[in-house]
Amino acid sequence: MKPRVLSGIQPTGSLHIGNYLGALKNWVTLQDTFECIFCIVDLHAITVYQDPAELHAKIEQTAGLFLAAGIDPAKSAVVVQSTVKGHAELSWLLTCVTPVGWLERMTQFKDKSAKQESVGAGLLNYPVLMAADILLYQAAIVPVGDDQSQHLELTRDIAQRFNALYGDTFVMPATKLPAVGARIMGLDAPTKKMSKSTEGSGHAISLLDPPATIRKKIMRATTDSLPGVDFDNLGPGVVNLLAIHQAFTGWTNDQTRAHFAGMRYGDLKKTVAEAVVAGLEPLQTRYHEIMADPAYLRGILRDSAERASALAEQTVRLVKERMGVYAG
Ligand code: TRP
Repeated sequence: MKPRVLSGIQPTGSLHIGNYLGALKNWVTLQDTFECIFCIVDLHAITVYQDPAELHAKIEQTAGLFLAAGIDPAKSAVVVQSTVKGHAELSWLLTCVTPVGWLERMTQFKDKSAKQESVGAGLLNYPVLMAADILLYQAAIVPVGDDQSQHLELTRDIAQRFNALYGDTFVMPATKLPAVGARIMGLDAPTKKMSKSTEGSGHAISLLDPPATIRKKIMRATTDSLPGVDFDNLGPGVVNLLAIHQAFTGWTNDQTRAHFAGMRYGDLKKTVAEAVVAGLEPLQTRYHEIMADPAYLRGILRDSAERASALAEQTVRLVKERMGVYAG
């Protein structure tokens, strides 16, 4: 049996080239080696208020982008979290073995709650729901960015605590993952990871941006005060542009160096912009084809939910039995 991989993305904001080069593109390559479940975590999204109509549209848009990026529904499951009731169910069962102190210590909770006047209980419980996503499918591998490693560590702590209290039940998901995928930084602030929630039109390139927008954003990207590319003295903005170019073209370091050494920033940006436009074109075409047939997309989501529910029910039943609640 292939080891199981699980990852998730919130259906908020717009998926951008950082999500694609850092996560999605890597997920596509995992599909042959592992049994993959890719989750659209709408129950996580509502831990902060979302406009209902917009959230609903974003869920299907995210699913469409997964498929357009190359997630193959014949190999992998694309699961909308709220369609498999085990996520919420297991989340409650795990909440009951999770000390509040563990949750209050999470840096993401501290950051997010500091920005709000009144903090919803869902925000505090967010990492328990994430633990449930992972443990529900007994996933062995969870490919996530550095920003999620504290949540993954907590998942292991919760699993360990459950196993200690009720007997061996959960597989321990791996925490340390080989670094794969490019780490793409914001165009306007190249020392900060490109983010879906950062405001400002110059920050991220959305996967659905038209060519003219892509060109405009890249031409405005922050570089530094040098006139052109100096490989002995690369600022973070230039490093980021070169990383984006390499990720889209597959060029080696040597090829990159030979081509860009001494090039003026204006010309560097034009070259990078064309590589991004060309790299996204097939994905965008495929996306529009997929979205033109909503019945096809909904069929895939229904099918994935069915397969995932069958797995989820086994875990929920086992956990209920272990805890002594009435499993029926
Ligand atoms: N918290 C993750 C993020 O914001 C999303 C997520 C939810 C997730 N459940 C998951 C990631 C399970 C991996 C596995 O990026």
